[in-house]
Amino acid sequence: MDLGLAGRTAVVTGASRGIGLAITRGLVEEGVTVVAAARSTSPSLDELGGSVHVVQVDLSTPDGPATLIGAAVDLLGGIDVLVNNVGAVHPRLGGFLSVSDEDWAATLDLDVLAAIRTMRAAIPHLTGRDGANIVTVSSVNAFLPDPGVLDYSAAKAALSNVCKSLSKELGPAIRVNTVSPGPVATDLWLGAGGVAATVGGAGGRSADEVVHAQEAAAPSGRFTTPREVADAVVFLASPRSANTTGADLVIDGGLIPTL
Ligand SMILES: NC(=O)c1ccc[n+]([C@@H]2O[C@H](COP(=O)([O-])OP(=O)(O)OC[C@H]3O[C@@H](n4cnc5c(N)ncnc54)[C@H](OP(=O)(O)O)[C@@H]3O)[C@@H](O)[C@H]2O)c1
Repeated sequence: MDLGLAGRTAVVTGASRGIGLAITRGLVEEGVTVVAAARSTSPSLDELGGSVHVVQVDLSTPDGPATLIGAAVDLLGGIDVLVNNVGAVHPRLGGFLSVSDEDWAATLDLDVLAAIRTMRAAIPHLTGRDGANIVTVSSVNAFLPDPGVLDYSAAKAALSNVCKSLSKELGPAIRVNTVSPGPVATDLWLGAGGVAATVGGAGGRSADEVVHAQEAAAPSGRFTTPREVADAVVFLASPRSANTTGADLVIDGGLIPTL
């Protein structure tokens, strides 16, 4: 299926590894020129070649997102697609009372305000572009509140809510959609210091045991791959989904048991 994305331009945040890297790769394969943002680049990102411009920027800062979009406009001449992917999670093993104001501020900066600031800077440049749209990587935790990641859950709930509001304000000129993955096989879950190692270490279990328990919780019996999330994002970014806006696509192997 030709997705009709060839020749378009995109900005992807959190693009050096994991889901953002897979999204960048997927867009490049469709003929899109991408500005890929992270604090540092990676060999895998560099290998994607001349269709990718890496911008190294800390998106948790107030000025980082506007700096990124300014650089992207200079590099691309205009932006057709914005993918808000950057985010991070810190398991709160000490419970609600252990989460400080500083913890909350850091989570809200990276998991909500980074996307809000990036959209605020990008929307004037998306306006007037045929097929312009925004896809944001939220999480099942937006509607699956979890005390182990309660600040992350609250941040993702706010993020999905803002995106739904924006779909109403910006339609029909700019489509706005979200994807909500369950556990995905990236460093966030599986890396050193990731969710599995952190939760396992606190509970006397190995990281593998934590992963196996999580896998067993979903009907599919496994984590989602970064590429499976990326394929959904690339489809939503394409003209093939031209009448899809305000939608949230759950990609969780059936983890969420309700409709
Ligand atoms: N993995 C999952 O199970 C899962 C499930 C649901 C939703 N999600 C969401 O999917 C998104 C991507 O997650 P992932 O699993 O791919 O994470 P990841 O593997 O940890 O990758 C995070 C990416 O964001 C970049 N990044 C982190 N902090 C940054 C900052 N302050 N400024 C700029 N870039 C920054 C990282 O590069 P640098 O470190 O070089 O900056 C990296 O490229 C996040 O929004 C996450 O909440 C993930």
